[in-house]
Amino acid sequence: MKINIILDDITKLKTDAIVNAANRQLAGGGGVDGAIHKAGGSAILEECRQIGYCETGKAVVTTAGNLLSRYLIHTVGPIWHEHPALMADLLLSLSYRNSLLLADHLDCKSLAFPNISTGVYGFPKDRAAELVKEVVQHFEPEKLEILTFCCFDQENYDIYNELFKTF
Ligand code: APR
Repeated sequence: MKINIILDDITKLKTDAIVNAANRQLAGGGGVDGAIHKAGGSAILEECRQIGYCETGKAVVTTAGNLLSRYLIHTVGPIWHEHPALMADLLLSLSYRNSLLLADHLDCKSLAFPNISTGVYGFPKDRAAELVKEVVQHFEPEKLEILTFCCFDQENYDIYNELFKTF
């Protein structure tokens, strides 16, 4: 897979699928979740209501409403302080892996991720990025060709650029 690292608003991207950093109730919220629902429109929230719930580490799919993508993949990352560190690591890795699996299963060629759990959920940014790299290194896609890590803050952008230099 080709890896792109950008500093941008994920709601502006045109990829086959975009990942949302959701909560378990799929109820919308602040951060990237709020931005996605605001830009995508109310149809997304209605689909989320019908799905109802998503366990931490899992991923579900809706259409992308008014966004420029075909699909919106909602995954729930761990709240850092709610778990022992190794459990939080596992859950975050699962969030990324399950999102990748779902996108691949949906025949997506391109997928964009925000930096899941590194905002309100408080996961350390450098630790999260290292886990992400490991997940991507072990993932064997059938359809996915382009993976974009859409950072929204300079710190995450710098961490990803440094880490993926050697990818
Ligand atoms: N585009 C890309 N990234 C964004 C955007 C955006 N428009 N807005 C925020 N971000 C980035 C933040 O800078 C952070 O690095 O998304 C990353 C994840 O931060 P949060 O959105 O706070 O997500 P998270 O830490 O996973 O917490 C999830 O936040 O709003 C709630 O409903 C959401 O309860 C859930 C919780």
